[in-house]
Amino acid sequence: MYAPRDASDSGILPLPAGESDMRPDSYLQLKGVHKRWGAFTALEQIDLSIARGEFVCFLGPSGCGKTTLLRIIAGLETQTVGEIWQAGRNISVLPPAQRDYGIVFQSYALFPNLTIADNVAYGLVNRRQSRAQIAERVQGLLALVGLPGSGAKYPAQMSGGQQQRVALARALATSPGLLLLDEPLSALDALVRVRLRNEIRALQRELGVTTVMVTHDQEEALSVADRIVVMNHGVIEQVGTPAEIYREPASPFVAQFIGKVNRLRGVSEGDHWFRCGDKRLRCAPAAGADFRPGRPVALYLRPEDRVVGDLREDDPALCTGRVGRIEFLGGNCLAEIEVEGLPGQPLQLQFSLNQMDEFGVREGAPLRFALRTDRLRVFAAGEETE
Ligand SMILES: Nc1ncnc2c1ncn2[C@@H]1O[C@H](COP(=O)(O)OP(=O)(O)OP(=O)(O)O)[C@@H](O)[C@H]1O
Ligand SMILES: [Mg+2]
Repeated sequence: MYAPRDASDSGILPLPAGESDMRPDSYLQLKGVHKRWGAFTALEQIDLSIARGEFVCFLGPSGCGKTTLLRIIAGLETQTVGEIWQAGRNISVLPPAQRDYGIVFQSYALFPNLTIADNVAYGLVNRRQSRAQIAERVQGLLALVGLPGSGAKYPAQMSGGQQQRVALARALATSPGLLLLDEPLSALDALVRVRLRNEIRALQRELGVTTVMVTHDQEEALSVADRIVVMNHGVIEQVGTPAEIYREPASPFVAQFIGKVNRLRGVSEGDHWFRCGDKRLRCAPAAGADFRPGRPVALYLRPEDRVVGDLREDDPALCTGRVGRIEFLGGNCLAEIEVEGLPGQPLQLQFSLNQMDEFGVREGAPLRFALRTDRLRVFAAGEETE
Protein backbone atom coordinates (compact mmCIF):
# COMPACT_ATOMS: atom_id res chain seq x y z
CA MET A 1 0.00 0.00 0.00
CA TYR A 2 1.19 3.46 -0.74
CA ALA A 3 1.48 5.59 2.36
CA PRO A 4 1.43 9.33 1.74
CA ARG A 5 4.60 10.84 3.05
CA ASP A 6 4.77 14.20 4.58
CA ALA A 7 6.58 16.96 2.80
CA SER A 8 9.37 16.93 5.36
CA ASP A 9 10.82 13.63 4.11
CA SER A 10 10.24 14.32 0.42
CA GLY A 11 13.27 16.54 -0.05
CA ILE A 12 10.94 19.36 -1.13
CA LEU A 13 11.54 22.51 0.82
CA PRO A 14 8.50 23.61 2.87
CA LEU A 15 6.44 26.50 1.64
CA PRO A 16 6.86 29.73 3.59
CA ALA A 17 3.78 30.40 5.72
CA GLY A 18 1.17 32.78 4.31
CA GLU A 19 1.67 31.96 0.60
CA SER A 20 -1.32 32.10 -1.73
CA ASP A 21 -4.74 31.03 -0.49
CA MET A 22 -6.89 28.25 -1.91
CA ARG A 23 -9.66 29.65 -4.10
CA PRO A 24 -12.99 27.94 -3.53
CA ASP A 25 -13.57 27.21 -7.25
CA SER A 26 -10.05 25.95 -7.74
CA TYR A 27 -9.48 22.41 -9.06
CA LEU A 28 -5.74 22.59 -9.56
CA GLN A 29 -3.55 24.91 -7.57
CA LEU A 30 0.15 25.62 -7.78
CA LYS A 31 1.46 27.45 -4.74
CA GLY A 32 4.87 29.07 -4.77
CA VAL A 33 6.43 26.48 -7.09
CA HIS A 34 10.15 26.88 -7.79
CA LYS A 35 12.40 24.53 -9.74
CA ARG A 36 16.17 24.67 -9.68
CA TRP A 37 18.78 22.46 -11.27
CA GLY A 38 21.97 23.31 -9.44
CA ALA A 39 22.51 27.03 -9.90
CA PHE A 40 19.98 27.21 -12.77
CA THR A 41 16.46 28.38 -11.94
CA ALA A 42 13.95 26.91 -14.38
CA LEU A 43 10.80 28.10 -12.56
CA GLU A 44 10.34 30.87 -10.07
CA GLN A 45 7.37 31.60 -7.79
CA ILE A 46 4.66 29.96 -9.85
CA ASP A 47 1.25 30.67 -8.28
CA LEU A 48 -1.68 29.55 -10.34
CA SER A 49 -5.24 28.47 -9.77
CA ILE A 50 -7.20 26.54 -12.40
CA ALA A 51 -10.96 26.03 -12.13
CA ARG A 52 -12.71 22.71 -12.68
CA GLY A 53 -13.44 22.22 -16.38
CA GLU A 54 -11.16 25.02 -17.51
CA PHE A 55 -8.91 24.77 -20.59
CA VAL A 56 -5.65 26.53 -19.80
CA CYS A 57 -2.66 26.95 -22.12
CA PHE A 58 0.93 27.49 -20.99
CA LEU A 59 2.39 29.72 -23.69
CA GLY A 60 5.92 31.04 -23.99
CA PRO A 61 9.17 30.88 -25.92
CA SER A 62 11.36 27.81 -26.06
CA GLY A 63 13.10 27.10 -22.76
CA CYS A 64 10.77 29.24 -20.61
CA GLY A 65 9.78 26.29 -18.42
CA LYS A 66 6.42 25.14 -19.84
CA THR A 67 7.27 21.43 -20.02
CA THR A 68 8.99 21.53 -16.64
CA LEU A 69 5.85 22.96 -15.05
CA LEU A 70 3.60 20.39 -16.74
CA ARG A 71 5.91 17.57 -15.62
CA ILE A 72 5.81 18.87 -12.06
CA ILE A 73 2.00 18.77 -12.13
CA ALA A 74 2.27 15.19 -13.40
CA GLY A 75 4.81 14.19 -10.76
CA LEU A 76 7.36 13.33 -13.47
CA GLU A 77 9.61 16.06 -12.10
CA THR A 78 9.93 17.24 -8.51
CA GLN A 79 9.63 20.90 -7.61
CA THR A 80 12.38 22.35 -5.43
CA VAL A 81 9.89 24.40 -3.40
CA GLY A 82 6.11 24.68 -3.42
CA GLU A 83 2.90 22.71 -3.35
CA ILE A 84 0.47 21.27 -5.86
CA TRP A 85 -3.16 20.68 -4.93
CA GLN A 86 -5.69 18.83 -7.04
CA ALA A 87 -9.36 18.49 -6.09
CA GLY A 88 -8.64 19.57 -2.55
CA ARG A 89 -5.82 17.03 -2.13
CA ASN A 90 -2.19 17.97 -1.58
CA ILE A 91 -0.45 15.94 -4.31
CA SER A 92 2.92 17.67 -3.95
CA VAL A 93 4.85 14.49 -3.09
CA LEU A 94 2.70 11.81 -4.72
CA PRO A 95 4.33 9.66 -7.41
CA PRO A 96 2.75 9.84 -10.90
CA ALA A 97 0.75 6.62 -10.47
CA GLN A 98 -1.00 8.08 -7.43
CA ARG A 99 -2.12 11.21 -9.28
CA ASP A 100 -5.27 11.57 -11.34
CA TYR A 101 -4.37 12.67 -14.88
CA GLY A 102 -3.93 11.53 -18.46
CA ILE A 103 -1.08 12.90 -20.53
CA VAL A 104 -0.25 13.31 -24.23
CA PHE A 105 3.26 14.20 -25.39
CA GLN A 106 4.48 15.83 -28.58
CA SER A 107 5.93 12.61 -29.96
CA TYR A 108 3.22 10.04 -30.28
CA ALA A 109 4.72 7.72 -27.67
CA LEU A 110 2.47 4.81 -28.64
CA PHE A 111 3.82 1.28 -28.15
CA PRO A 112 4.72 0.25 -31.71
CA ASN A 113 4.34 -3.49 -31.01
CA LEU A 114 0.83 -3.16 -29.55
CA THR A 115 -2.36 -2.76 -31.55
CA ILE A 116 -4.26 0.52 -31.32
CA ALA A 117 -6.83 -1.18 -29.05
CA ASP A 118 -4.10 -2.49 -26.72
CA ASN A 119 -2.44 0.93 -26.65
CA VAL A 120 -5.70 2.55 -25.58
CA ALA A 121 -6.42 -0.22 -23.07
CA TYR A 122 -2.98 0.08 -21.53
CA GLY A 123 -4.08 2.10 -18.52
CA LEU A 124 -7.20 0.00 -17.93
CA VAL A 125 -5.79 -3.51 -17.52
CA ASN A 126 -5.05 -3.24 -13.82
CA ARG A 127 -8.43 -1.79 -13.00
CA ARG A 128 -10.29 -5.04 -12.31
CA GLN A 129 -12.47 -4.81 -15.36
CA SER A 130 -13.48 -7.76 -17.49
CA ARG A 131 -12.05 -8.14 -21.00
CA ALA A 132 -15.48 -7.38 -22.41
CA GLN A 133 -15.78 -4.19 -20.36
CA ILE A 134 -12.34 -3.06 -21.50
CA ALA A 135 -13.11 -3.86 -25.15
CA GLU A 136 -16.31 -1.85 -24.94
CA ARG A 137 -14.55 1.10 -23.31
CA VAL A 138 -11.80 1.05 -25.95
CA GLN A 139 -14.37 1.01 -28.75
CA GLY A 140 -16.15 3.94 -27.15
CA LEU A 141 -12.91 5.90 -26.79
CA LEU A 142 -11.86 5.26 -30.39
CA ALA A 143 -15.27 6.46 -31.57
CA LEU A 144 -14.90 9.53 -29.35
CA VAL A 145 -11.64 10.55 -31.07
CA GLY A 146 -13.00 9.86 -34.54
CA LEU A 147 -11.29 6.51 -35.16
CA PRO A 148 -14.05 3.92 -34.83
CA GLY A 149 -13.08 0.42 -35.90
CA SER A 150 -9.32 0.97 -36.03
CA GLY A 151 -8.48 -1.06 -32.91
CA ALA A 152 -6.79 -3.89 -34.81
CA LYS A 153 -4.28 -1.64 -36.59
CA TYR A 154 -0.75 -0.90 -35.43
CA PRO A 155 0.65 2.62 -34.87
CA ALA A 156 2.88 2.43 -37.97
CA GLN A 157 -0.24 2.02 -40.10
CA MET A 158 -1.62 5.38 -38.97
CA SER A 159 -0.86 9.00 -39.85
CA GLY A 160 0.63 11.40 -37.31
CA GLY A 161 -2.75 13.02 -36.68
CA GLN A 162 -4.39 9.62 -36.16
CA GLN A 163 -1.64 8.56 -33.76
CA GLN A 164 -2.21 11.69 -31.68
CA ARG A 165 -5.93 10.85 -31.58
CA VAL A 166 -5.01 7.42 -30.25
CA ALA A 167 -2.71 9.01 -27.67
CA LEU A 168 -5.61 11.23 -26.64
CA ALA A 169 -7.94 8.23 -26.33
CA ARG A 170 -5.32 6.49 -24.19
CA ALA A 171 -4.96 9.56 -21.96
CA LEU A 172 -8.75 9.71 -21.49
CA ALA A 173 -9.21 5.97 -20.91
CA THR A 174 -9.34 6.14 -17.12
CA SER A 175 -11.60 9.23 -17.16
CA PRO A 176 -8.96 11.30 -15.41
CA GLY A 177 -9.83 14.53 -13.62
CA LEU A 178 -7.02 16.31 -15.41
CA LEU A 179 -5.79 16.16 -19.00
CA LEU A 180 -2.20 17.28 -19.61
CA LEU A 181 -1.06 17.96 -23.17
CA ASP A 182 2.54 18.87 -24.02
CA GLU A 183 2.67 20.34 -27.53
CA PRO A 184 0.44 17.52 -28.81
CA LEU A 185 0.01 19.12 -32.22
CA SER A 186 3.41 20.56 -33.05
CA ALA A 187 4.64 17.55 -35.04
CA LEU A 188 1.62 17.71 -37.36
CA ASP A 189 1.21 19.67 -40.56
CA ALA A 190 -0.73 22.94 -40.47
CA LEU A 191 -4.14 21.77 -41.67
CA VAL A 192 -4.24 18.66 -39.47
CA ARG A 193 -3.08 20.78 -36.54
CA VAL A 194 -5.96 23.22 -36.87
CA ARG A 195 -8.52 20.44 -37.32
CA LEU A 196 -7.24 18.45 -34.37
CA ARG A 197 -7.03 21.43 -32.04
CA ASN A 198 -10.69 22.18 -32.75
CA GLU A 199 -11.56 18.55 -32.11
CA ILE A 200 -9.62 18.55 -28.83
CA ARG A 201 -11.43 21.70 -27.78
CA ALA A 202 -14.85 20.25 -28.65
CA LEU A 203 -14.03 17.00 -26.85
CA GLN A 204 -12.78 18.87 -23.79
CA ARG A 205 -16.05 20.84 -23.66
CA GLU A 206 -18.11 17.68 -24.05
CA LEU A 207 -16.24 15.82 -21.29
CA GLY A 208 -15.70 18.87 -19.08
CA VAL A 209 -12.23 17.60 -18.18
CA THR A 210 -9.89 20.22 -16.70
CA THR A 211 -7.12 20.59 -19.27
CA VAL A 212 -3.65 22.11 -19.37
CA MET A 213 -2.01 22.33 -22.79
CA VAL A 214 1.55 23.48 -23.38
CA THR A 215 2.19 25.27 -26.64
CA HIS A 216 4.58 27.81 -28.10
CA ASP A 217 2.06 28.60 -30.85
CA GLN A 218 0.18 31.75 -29.87
CA GLU A 219 -2.56 31.25 -32.45
CA GLU A 220 -3.22 27.79 -31.02
CA ALA A 221 -3.43 29.17 -27.48
CA LEU A 222 -5.63 32.12 -28.47
CA SER A 223 -8.04 29.86 -30.34
CA VAL A 224 -8.59 27.08 -27.78
CA ALA A 225 -7.83 28.38 -24.28
CA ASP A 226 -10.26 29.73 -21.69
CA ARG A 227 -7.20 31.31 -20.10
CA ILE A 228 -3.60 31.63 -21.17
CA VAL A 229 -0.60 31.59 -18.84
CA VAL A 230 2.15 33.54 -20.58
CA MET A 231 5.57 32.46 -19.34
CA ASN A 232 9.04 33.88 -19.91
CA HIS A 233 12.35 32.82 -18.34
CA GLY A 234 10.67 30.66 -15.69
CA VAL A 235 8.17 33.24 -14.44
CA ILE A 236 4.52 33.91 -15.20
CA GLU A 237 4.22 37.22 -17.04
CA GLN A 238 0.42 37.25 -17.23
CA VAL A 239 -2.62 35.04 -16.75
CA GLY A 240 -5.77 36.04 -18.60
CA THR A 241 -8.39 35.24 -21.21
CA PRO A 242 -7.16 35.38 -24.81
CA ALA A 243 -8.84 38.79 -25.24
CA GLU A 244 -7.25 40.17 -22.05
CA ILE A 245 -3.82 38.94 -23.04
CA TYR A 246 -4.17 40.49 -26.49
CA ARG A 247 -5.90 43.73 -25.56
CA GLU A 248 -4.42 44.42 -22.14
CA PRO A 249 -0.91 42.98 -22.09
CA ALA A 250 0.53 43.31 -18.59
CA SER A 251 4.13 43.72 -19.73
CA PRO A 252 6.13 44.73 -22.80
CA PHE A 253 7.08 41.08 -23.23
CA VAL A 254 3.42 40.01 -23.51
CA ALA A 255 2.62 42.91 -25.86
CA GLN A 256 5.42 41.83 -28.19
CA PHE A 257 5.06 38.07 -27.85
CA ILE A 258 1.33 37.94 -28.67
CA GLY A 259 0.28 39.23 -32.07
CA LYS A 260 1.80 42.12 -33.96
CA VAL A 261 2.35 45.42 -32.23
CA ASN A 262 3.83 48.85 -32.94
CA ARG A 263 6.28 50.19 -30.41
CA LEU A 264 6.74 53.95 -30.23
CA ARG A 265 9.42 55.66 -28.19
CA GLY A 266 8.12 58.55 -26.13
CA VAL A 267 8.59 60.72 -23.09
CA SER A 268 6.03 61.26 -20.36
CA GLU A 269 4.63 64.75 -19.86
CA GLY A 270 2.47 63.78 -16.89
CA ASP A 271 -1.31 63.31 -16.58
CA HIS A 272 -1.15 60.44 -19.13
CA TRP A 273 0.20 62.72 -21.87
CA PHE A 274 3.21 61.53 -23.88
CA ARG A 275 5.37 63.13 -26.49
CA CYS A 276 6.35 60.95 -29.47
CA GLY A 277 8.39 62.82 -32.04
CA ASP A 278 6.36 65.99 -32.75
CA LYS A 279 3.13 64.41 -31.56
CA ARG A 280 1.43 64.61 -28.18
CA LEU A 281 -0.73 61.61 -27.33
CA ARG A 282 -2.93 61.02 -24.32
CA CYS A 283 -3.63 57.45 -23.36
CA ALA A 284 -6.51 56.13 -21.26
CA PRO A 285 -5.61 56.30 -17.56
CA ALA A 286 -6.09 52.50 -17.28
CA ALA A 287 -3.48 51.83 -19.97
CA GLY A 288 -0.46 52.36 -17.78
CA ALA A 289 0.88 54.17 -14.76
CA ASP A 290 0.97 57.95 -14.74
CA PHE A 291 4.70 58.34 -15.23
CA ARG A 292 6.47 61.36 -13.87
CA PRO A 293 7.30 64.00 -16.53
CA GLY A 294 10.54 63.37 -18.42
CA ARG A 295 10.41 59.59 -18.00
CA PRO A 296 11.20 57.66 -21.21
CA VAL A 297 8.37 55.30 -22.12
CA ALA A 298 7.38 52.83 -24.81
CA LEU A 299 3.87 53.04 -26.24
CA TYR A 300 2.38 49.90 -27.76
CA LEU A 301 -0.39 49.95 -30.34
CA ARG A 302 -1.85 47.06 -32.37
CA PRO A 303 -1.89 47.47 -36.18
CA GLU A 304 -5.71 47.46 -36.26
CA ASP A 305 -6.03 50.25 -33.69
CA ARG A 306 -6.39 53.13 -36.13
CA VAL A 307 -9.31 55.10 -37.54
CA VAL A 308 -9.46 56.26 -41.16
CA GLY A 309 -12.96 57.66 -41.73
CA ASP A 310 -14.65 60.41 -39.62
CA LEU A 311 -11.46 62.18 -38.60
CA ARG A 312 -11.58 65.16 -36.25
CA GLU A 313 -9.20 67.94 -37.27
CA ASP A 314 -8.46 68.83 -33.63
CA ASP A 315 -7.58 65.23 -32.65
CA PRO A 316 -3.96 65.21 -31.39
CA ALA A 317 -3.68 61.62 -32.63
CA LEU A 318 -4.42 62.65 -36.22
CA CYS A 319 -1.59 61.57 -38.53
CA THR A 320 -0.58 62.26 -42.08
CA GLY A 321 1.62 59.67 -43.68
CA ARG A 322 2.73 57.89 -46.79
CA VAL A 323 2.25 54.22 -47.49
CA GLY A 324 5.42 52.19 -47.90
CA ARG A 325 5.76 48.42 -48.17
CA ILE A 326 2.57 46.38 -48.08
CA GLU A 327 2.63 42.85 -46.72
CA PHE A 328 -0.14 40.61 -48.01
CA LEU A 329 -1.50 38.25 -45.32
CA GLY A 330 -4.58 36.81 -47.03
CA GLY A 331 -7.78 38.62 -46.07
CA ASN A 332 -5.69 41.34 -44.46
CA CYS A 333 -2.66 43.40 -45.32
CA LEU A 334 -0.09 45.15 -43.18
CA ALA A 335 0.92 48.51 -44.58
CA GLU A 336 4.01 50.31 -43.38
CA ILE A 337 3.29 54.02 -42.99
CA GLU A 338 5.89 56.78 -42.67
CA VAL A 339 4.20 59.34 -40.44
CA GLU A 340 4.91 63.10 -40.50
CA GLY A 341 6.26 64.14 -37.10
CA LEU A 342 7.31 60.58 -36.19
CA PRO A 343 10.70 60.35 -37.92
CA GLY A 344 12.30 56.91 -37.90
CA GLN A 345 9.24 55.28 -36.34
CA PRO A 346 7.16 53.86 -39.21
CA LEU A 347 3.86 52.30 -38.17
CA GLN A 348 2.48 48.96 -39.33
CA LEU A 349 -1.26 49.34 -39.86
CA GLN A 350 -3.67 46.58 -40.74
CA PHE A 351 -6.37 46.83 -43.39
CA SER A 352 -8.73 44.31 -44.88
CA LEU A 353 -8.52 43.98 -48.65
CA ASN A 354 -11.82 45.85 -48.93
CA GLN A 355 -10.50 48.69 -46.75
CA MET A 356 -7.38 48.91 -48.93
CA ASP A 357 -9.65 49.78 -51.88
CA GLU A 358 -11.96 52.00 -49.85
CA PHE A 359 -9.18 54.12 -48.30
CA GLY A 360 -6.84 54.02 -51.32
CA VAL A 361 -4.06 52.26 -49.43
CA ARG A 362 -1.35 51.47 -52.01
CA GLU A 363 2.39 51.91 -52.10
CA GLY A 364 3.40 55.56 -52.34
CA ALA A 365 -0.12 56.91 -51.64
CA PRO A 366 -0.78 59.52 -48.92
CA LEU A 367 -2.93 58.42 -45.99
CA ARG A 368 -4.66 60.35 -43.21
CA PHE A 369 -5.70 58.44 -40.12
CA ALA A 370 -5.90 58.75 -36.35
CA LEU A 371 -4.35 56.48 -33.75
CA ARG A 372 -6.79 54.83 -31.33
CA THR A 373 -5.13 56.28 -28.25
CA ASP A 374 -7.78 54.56 -26.09
CA ARG A 375 -6.00 51.33 -27.05
CA LEU A 376 -2.43 52.46 -26.29
CA ARG A 377 -0.52 50.51 -23.64
CA VAL A 378 2.34 52.38 -22.01
CA PHE A 379 5.32 51.00 -20.11
CA ALA A 380 8.43 52.60 -18.69
CA ALA A 381 11.16 52.14 -21.30
CA GLY A 382 13.52 50.69 -18.70
CA GLU A 383 11.05 47.93 -17.73
CA GLU A 384 11.36 46.20 -21.05
CA THR A 385 13.09 42.86 -21.15
CA GLU A 386 13.70 40.52 -24.02
N1 LIG B 1 16.80 17.80 -16.46
C1 LIG B 1 17.24 19.05 -16.63
N2 LIG B 1 18.40 19.46 -16.10
C2 LIG B 1 18.83 20.75 -16.25
N3 LIG B 1 18.13 21.70 -16.93
C3 LIG B 1 16.96 21.34 -17.47
C4 LIG B 1 16.44 20.01 -17.37
N4 LIG B 1 15.24 19.96 -18.02
C5 LIG B 1 15.03 21.20 -18.51
N5 LIG B 1 16.06 22.03 -18.20
C6 LIG B 1 16.17 23.46 -18.55
O1 LIG B 1 15.06 24.14 -18.01
C7 LIG B 1 14.59 25.16 -18.90
C8 LIG B 1 13.13 24.95 -19.18
O2 LIG B 1 12.97 23.79 -19.97
P1 LIG B 1 11.56 23.32 -20.51
O3 LIG B 1 11.74 22.03 -21.21
O4 LIG B 1 10.57 23.34 -19.39
O5 LIG B 1 11.20 24.48 -21.54
P2 LIG B 1 9.95 24.64 -22.52
O6 LIG B 1 9.33 25.94 -22.20
O7 LIG B 1 9.11 23.43 -22.47
O8 LIG B 1 10.67 24.77 -23.95
P3 LIG B 1 10.26 24.17 -25.40
O9 LIG B 1 9.23 25.12 -25.96
O10 LIG B 1 11.55 24.24 -26.17
O11 LIG B 1 9.75 22.77 -25.21
C9 LIG B 1 15.48 25.05 -20.14
O12 LIG B 1 16.48 26.04 -20.04
C10 LIG B 1 16.07 23.68 -20.05
O13 LIG B 1 17.33 23.63 -20.66
MG1 LIG C 1 8.62 21.92 -23.85
